[in-house]
Amino acid sequence: MTAFPVRRPRRLRQTAALRRLVAEHDLTPRRLVLPVFVKEGIDAAQPIASMPGVSQHPLSALPDVVEQAVAAGLGGVMLFGVPAVRDAVGSGAVDPDGILNRAIAVAARIAAGRLTVQGDLCLDEFTDHGHCGVLASDGTVDNDATLEVYARMALAQAEAGADILGLSGMMDGQVAAVRAALDAAGRTDVVLLAYAAKYASAFYGPFRDAVESTLTGDRRTYQLDPANGREGVQEAQGDIDEGADVVMVKPAGPYLDVLARVADLSPVPVWAYQVSGEYAMIEHAAAAGLIDRERAIGESLVGIRRAGADAILTYWALEVAGWLRAGRSLT
Ligand code: PBG
Repeated sequence: MTAFPVRRPRRLRQTAALRRLVAEHDLTPRRLVLPVFVKEGIDAAQPIASMPGVSQHPLSALPDVVEQAVAAGLGGVMLFGVPAVRDAVGSGAVDPDGILNRAIAVAARIAAGRLTVQGDLCLDEFTDHGHCGVLASDGTVDNDATLEVYARMALAQAEAGADILGLSGMMDGQVAAVRAALDAAGRTDVVLLAYAAKYASAFYGPFRDAVESTLTGDRRTYQLDPANGREGVQEAQGDIDEGADVVMVKPAGPYLDVLARVADLSPVPVWAYQVSGEYAMIEHAAAAGLIDRERAIGESLVGIRRAGADAILTYWALEVAGWLRAGRSLT
């Protein structure tokens, strides 16, 4: 490559039209997935204080949310259930009448193939201790006993009509166990999204408000140590070997290096979850007048895309899809 003064990189940055033409990355609504919280026993939306602009929805409001997601051209909705009652083994997760399974059924009926319906496959919203699995007698999370519950939960979500199951519990062998259970039941059609590299992150803080988490302590015995990049790549490879159809890195922003490495090696689609804390930081900083809200949102999302995400779960999915449809650049 020639050097200055022949080469002048600023030449391509002179006008908005040039910058628009040479931008390497952008987003489209189909690459965005909206996480949705559905709470049992409420009849009006309840705003989540730590996540300005995000609410818990009653089941009766879900059809409207799904219609909005369809109209926005989104790739899917990821459903989370907030049950009225929790117990030690997370019974509400496997009960066809449990709030998440009912929400999946409603969303699948409304979506009718116009976007994908995804269910969070994890026990933390359903256990009274708040862990992602069932506990052994010594209080530790019992990996293999949890796999049996995940298998039943997967069948319930498949039966309810989920297109994609989001395995977010970080139990060893969860992809293989759920795949085997689905296949044995003749449900070879159900897609498995593995939260392959899911880190034990402080950025899930606002989400725990959103689902009214009962957790005391942390998830460090099953979620990844933020210090470890290689281990995240290894987790993704392991999930691909177990049969994951899609792998995900989560959170997104603080783990763009892991995302880029996984995207380099993965033969299957790679997604990223821009989590509640990433959302809350920008919303609260913007509300305090510290940053330009829309530019910060756009930059955060393009950064995730640039690092290699094929699709992104983000609480801004509806709003950003609106900007994109209006032809606005995210940067
Ligand atoms: C587990 C789950 C969590 C999130 C998504 N799925 C919480 C956790 O692992 O503690 C966090 C998402 C977010 O922070 O936006 N059910």
